[in-house]
Amino acid sequence: MQGPTPLQGTVRMAGAKNSALKLMAAALMVPGEVILERAPRITDVELMADVLRRLGATVERDGDTLTIDSSGDLQEETPYELVRKMRASIQVLGPLLARLGRARVSMPGGDAIGSRPIDLHLGGLERMGVKFTSQHGYIEGVVQRLKGTRVLLEFPSVGATENLLMAAVLAEGTTVIENAAREPEIQDLATFFQACGARVSGAGTPTIEIEGVEELSPTRHRIIPDRIEAGTFAIGAVASRGDVTLEDMEPIHIELPLQKLEEAGAEVRRSADSVRVRMSSRPRAIDLVTLPYPGFPTDLQPMMMVTLAQAAGSSILTENVFEARFLFVDELNRMGSHIRVEGHHAVIRGVERLSSAPVQVPDIRAGAALVLSGVCAEGVTEVYDGGHIERGYEDFVGKLGSLGADVEVRD
Ligand code: EPU
Repeated sequence: MQGPTPLQGTVRMAGAKNSALKLMAAALMVPGEVILERAPRITDVELMADVLRRLGATVERDGDTLTIDSSGDLQEETPYELVRKMRASIQVLGPLLARLGRARVSMPGGDAIGSRPIDLHLGGLERMGVKFTSQHGYIEGVVQRLKGTRVLLEFPSVGATENLLMAAVLAEGTTVIENAAREPEIQDLATFFQACGARVSGAGTPTIEIEGVEELSPTRHRIIPDRIEAGTFAIGAVASRGDVTLEDMEPIHIELPLQKLEEAGAEVRRSADSVRVRMSSRPRAIDLVTLPYPGFPTDLQPMMMVTLAQAAGSSILTENVFEARFLFVDELNRMGSHIRVEGHHAVIRGVERLSSAPVQVPDIRAGAALVLSGVCAEGVTEVYDGGHIERGYEDFVGKLGSLGADVEVRD
């Protein structure tokens, strides 16, 4: 890609990846047709469709709509070959235990952003009566009938909250999840379950209460817009000193990122389902800390790093959620940034302009950030292993192109 180009124009947001994946897993608990609208066209959704098919469901796509039918007999095993490609496959654990009373799921390993254990998922499910054994890289869970209980999470893990919520919906009695994650994707999952006849309250707060029901009924659900995609383009507008309007999105879901962009000098105009972000000068240096929602999302930290790398002054960025999310800094420094990492803090000394260099993508979000840095940098930037980006962003290159970026994909 050739830079520097200010991103200018309007982009429409796709459905949220991290909601779609969990809603697809949840569909395993519904004996009948679940229809999910605004399903993003990304590789991870296709991978989750493969997981569901492997478990015995049918999944069909018609445009942006997915139809999932899990009324047939389901299998209990999710093999290594699928979990290895996408760790969100472990979100079928709760649904399989709820539906079949047993599940055998390959243990996910670490990945490019950290070690990522699942102890909180397993600990909570054990409290609901599941007996786990692990052998040959697989974790096997068995339970007669899941029992409602109180679970206090040590950390508000998104994945653990979702697995427990899914298990609790069909459990006997009432489950209370305390210190639950509050991400909008959790609320979306709860809204879906309510439409299926489940009794869930408090999603979006630290205490979620679920009264188990005997069976769920099929429903049609529209997936919330992707707040991380929206945040990526909003930050891209600021990093490239452009003017971008985001449409079909929920401004409130990215309120803190928008406030931080304002602090850095951006002009932000919010309306009911769109936001316009304009930046005409070099960003100001700001400090930033990632935290669970409604804190600043770790998934937008790499893009913010690209922005602050070009700011006037020095910034400190603290990563509290994933230990290895600074690994891509070495790639960014190859493009002329001055960033020093000390533990979970990054000290960023802003430079006037980044300069192009060939760079390698380690994961979805760092990938999007490196492409944005290519848009901002002088000269032609080659980004290798860009396939990671398609896992989580629908038509990223096409959308950037529509905003004026000179980006092309080569095999
Ligand atoms: N953690 C534990 N034990 C557990 C679970 C989590 O120690 O049992 C730790 C993790 O190691 C990590 C922290 O808790 O340090 C947060 O993990 P969390 O469980 O909240 O994250 P996740 O469910 O694995 C989801 C998203 C991520 C996003 C995080 C945080 C999906 C599929 N993934 O992961 O999205 O960064 O929440 O918001 O929903 C992405 O989209 O690129 C992505 C990585």
